[in-house]
Amino acid sequence: MELQFNLKAYYKTSADPTPAMEAVAAFFEEANRTILTKGAPEGQGALLTGWEIWEDRIKFTLESGKYVRVHDAALRLKKQLSAVLGKEFKIGIRGTEVESFTILVPSEKELKEMKVPYVKRMENVRGGVLLELEVGEAEMKNRVPDRILTLLEDKIEAARYGAKAEHWNLIWQREPMEHPFKEDPTQAMMKEGWLKRGSSRGQWIHGPQSTKVFRTFEKIVYEELLEPIGYREMIFPKLVPWEVWMKSGHAKGVYPEIYYVCPPKTRDPEYWEEVIDHYKVTHEVPTALIKEKIGDPIGGMCYAQCPPFWGFVAGETLPNDEVPIRVFDRSGTSHRYESGGIHGIERVDEFHRIEILWLGTKDQVIAAAEELHDRYMHIFNDILNIEWRKAKVTPWFMAQEGLLGLAEGNVVGTTDYEACLPYRGEDGEWLEFQNVSINGDKYPSGFNVKLQSGEELWSGCSGVGLERWAAVFLAQKGLDPENWPEEFRKRVGEMPKGIRFL
Ligand code: SER
Ligand code: ZN
Repeated sequence: MELQFNLKAYYKTSADPTPAMEAVAAFFEEANRTILTKGAPEGQGALLTGWEIWEDRIKFTLESGKYVRVHDAALRLKKQLSAVLGKEFKIGIRGTEVESFTILVPSEKELKEMKVPYVKRMENVRGGVLLELEVGEAEMKNRVPDRILTLLEDKIEAARYGAKAEHWNLIWQREPMEHPFKEDPTQAMMKEGWLKRGSSRGQWIHGPQSTKVFRTFEKIVYEELLEPIGYREMIFPKLVPWEVWMKSGHAKGVYPEIYYVCPPKTRDPEYWEEVIDHYKVTHEVPTALIKEKIGDPIGGMCYAQCPPFWGFVAGETLPNDEVPIRVFDRSGTSHRYESGGIHGIERVDEFHRIEILWLGTKDQVIAAAEELHDRYMHIFNDILNIEWRKAKVTPWFMAQEGLLGLAEGNVVGTTDYEACLPYRGEDGEWLEFQNVSINGDKYPSGFNVKLQSGEELWSGCSGVGLERWAAVFLAQKGLDPENWPEEFRKRVGEMPKGIRFL
């Protein structure tokens, strides 16, 4: 089955167009051979399949495939027909009214019913999905039908992609190691008083001991990688407004996982008095009342860490000798609404990460990623001495943007670093503990950053998750510094005493 557009519509006229009947007939006949095929391969333009003249309108039916789409065809026709009617007959076209607009999208899979703006009806038919749109001239001009089609194609692709297993490719693996320690490190840390659960979901209060381990990881990353390569520290904002996520692409899908942020409607204490008094009298926070007094969400808390960086370079042109730019941020927490259940520090709603980011020409960006991979290899083999592996992965949203990371020769995509957790047993799932991504031109083009030479700008980022590093390191080595690799022990120095309780 092929993609098919069908439009039934009419042009409203300022006077009875009957006297122009012959001119209209000639115009439409000509249009089918000229303006409706312009830009399309032979035989694949739009086709005007029927028309009628009424006393106040010219009705028509258009069919097309993907090239000159019916809404573009209707706009092209209107412009030229206006000229014909105006010059000879002094008749104006007042606008376009849509009677019906359908798109038949090929799909092997059935799609579930969903709510999409401007889609009146959706039906699974043999070999595809039939969409009935409710659009007018403004929406046709604004390319709403094209966006709806793209959305549908994305969903069809996602359904197909979900069924395929090839978005994970092993690229490197360390030889298996013995792991005498077999405990769940979170349980062990709780037992030893290293940390406690925070009051919020998936949140921990780190005592001096686990904090020391985190800070040592940071020190290692700083000394072995950031400093020698010349990464510069920055501070990225941690409250991310929609505007940033619209440009980074996260606005296309981040909603189930973010912590939303809503500002108060006003900071006038009188406006809040009822809330305050309610609490004082009942000792309950009146959340329903608060909901009425706060505004719409303006965005969410830091999720991917790098998007807010881009405001710094957005709209700018970088001198050729300014790239590659290498920066990092470790100024705050990231927050994700994780899947339910009680997890240890390997899956948390609030976490700590060093976000490393670089941008430059394609070659510079690829080279910078290689450099990081080399340094990471050294850290995990020679300092932490853990069993780990690397896999190239492609989240389907990257695939759908044409960034097929696993395709031969394509460098865009994410490399996940994974490690075994001995307490999960031989066949237990490995844990992703950090990543290195080459993001192509996604961010520079989303935030409109250019290079003086005109060469395409690319970027990459790498997230060092401290909770994940701890989960891996402590699962494989245990909590006793006696059993830690010498190179790590040297860098930790003396472990601090914990806080004792009666
Ligand atoms: N920004 C990247 C991510 O969110 C790397 O940290 O995965
Ligand atoms: Zn990033």
